[in-house]
Amino acid sequence: MSEGAPIETALSELARIEAAYEAALSGAHDEQELRRERAKLLGGEGELTKLMRFMPKIPNERKKEFGQKVNGLKRAIEALFEARLEAIEAEARKAELEGPYLDVTMPSRARTPGRIHPIARVEDELIEIFGSLGFELADGPLIDTHANCFDRLGFPPDHPATDMQDTFFITRKELGAEETTLLRTHTSTLQIREMMKRKPPLAVIAPGTVFRRDDDATHSPMFYQLEGFLVDRDVSFAELKGVLTLFARRLFHEEISVRFRPSYFPFVEPGGEVDISCVFCKPWEKDEARTASCRICKGTGWLEVLGCGMIHPVVFENVGYDPREVSGFAFGMGLDRIAMLKYGVPNIRLLYENDHRFLSGF
Ligand code: PHE
Repeated sequence: MSEGAPIETALSELARIEAAYEAALSGAHDEQELRRERAKLLGGEGELTKLMRFMPKIPNERKKEFGQKVNGLKRAIEALFEARLEAIEAEARKAELEGPYLDVTMPSRARTPGRIHPIARVEDELIEIFGSLGFELADGPLIDTHANCFDRLGFPPDHPATDMQDTFFITRKELGAEETTLLRTHTSTLQIREMMKRKPPLAVIAPGTVFRRDDDATHSPMFYQLEGFLVDRDVSFAELKGVLTLFARRLFHEEISVRFRPSYFPFVEPGGEVDISCVFCKPWEKDEARTASCRICKGTGWLEVLGCGMIHPVVFENVGYDPREVSGFAFGMGLDRIAMLKYGVPNIRLLYENDHRFLSGF
């Protein structure tokens, strides 16, 4: 700004600003640019602000006129600024609405519905199958006595079978306990418990956890069994075979064959193990090459699934039944093994690790 009559200089500067501000504000394309232009005029070092510093040099009689002009221009600038700001915001909003859809919601935590565990599914199915044949459901404690787990089932004291099922003991008579107790090693304890509680005829199934000192790819120290037994007059092996054949066909496949092999359990006579047709190579489809190379049944076409037999007379005596009057059969199967066969699970640990990637497949 040149010297000379300050008022003239100031007024011409004012006129210059007045002529230029509209173009400057209107040319701004976004809010930032607009605010920058406004600051150039009205900011601390803005053109109009600097002009106000002229005031002391303005002759008194013209101070009012000059002040009014500066203030008028300031208001005009503010008004245009507000209008432009509104327009810019409206344009931005419009562009946003017309532009590509932007999802501003944050994904919520996925909610995966719970599922029935494969063992529980097999358990439910078996309860259904045996229930349809008239078997009732029974349950018993996980810690039971040596008597219920071994002695009353006909295991002689120190019989090798008691350490065949290497056991978790809780209390021991030899160490001063009133009774030897242990984590039950099989659900056959329920045969004793139910028979001591009730009178024949009875048909019972009892699923539940059992415990042994076993731990590898196909054995877990805690696993599931399902015990089944039936006591009545004149029960024969044919009925046992009929019930187990029906179970295998309903659970796995209607063309399954069932094979009985003699085996020893102290509480049954005769005792046997039951194999079913391999559910992986499906021998009933008669693809011999497939069966020959099946790694699950090792080419035999058979899978072992349970132990069974006719209830031993000594068991009836131990629970107060007369073995000359009643007879019966019993069977016990590992639910884990059944689930592994039914769903093709290669390692028993998968059933207990609660790994979502595994469980969500069911
Ligand atoms: N309790 C036996 C086991 O755990 C299975 C079984 C039950 C065998 C009933 C015969 C009869 O191996």
